[in-house]
Amino acid sequence: MQIILGDITKQEVDAIVNAANTSLLGGSGVDGAIHRAAGSELVHECRLLGGCKIGDAKLTKGYRLPARFIIHTVGPVWRGGDCGEPELLAECYRKSMQIAADKEFESLAFPCISTGIYRYPKALAGEIAVKICSEQIQNNGGPQRVIFCCFDRENYEIYERILSNYS
Ligand code: APR
Repeated sequence: MQIILGDITKQEVDAIVNAANTSLLGGSGVDGAIHRAAGSELVHECRLLGGCKIGDAKLTKGYRLPARFIIHTVGPVWRGGDCGEPELLAECYRKSMQIAADKEFESLAFPCISTGIYRYPKALAGEIAVKICSEQIQNNGGPQRVIFCCFDRENYEIYERILSNYS
């Protein structure tokens, strides 16, 4: 597992994960950035998917992105931590890793799901992200390269600290 500080729309990987909403029709944050970079064909494919439940994940092509595919997942909104948020966030990572393993992707990049507009505490989210991806790699093989693509230094330093406990 690797950490980078950068823009996920620039990553040349088999798939990038999008922190979407249940409509899958785009938004702001990383969702907006991915739709802008992928181009207008993306939303046409998304329309055919009939939305996405919180904690679930769905695959589309990457269109104009350097990434070949996009795995759209919908993270939970943070409501204090007692409304099933940890389990739902874990499902986002688990389902995304499962799709990547099923498709035999070699490389996969995640944003810090739910930690922006959905206000999930960054450190708690990072712990879940690393734990689930580490488990999936051990159990399913999964992509050789799992990249945590942080857009801000705070998240980057959080992931550095978490991953240092995994090596
Ligand atoms: N590359 C990588 N990470 C990015 C990028 C980018 N280009 N742009 C934003 N991010 C980061 C944010 O800084 C944050 O760390 O993605 C993380 C997730 O933040 P959001 O995009 O706000 O996603 P989230 O908190 O999951 O909220 C999802 O926001 O955009 C809407 O439609 C989306 O309703 C959904 C909600």
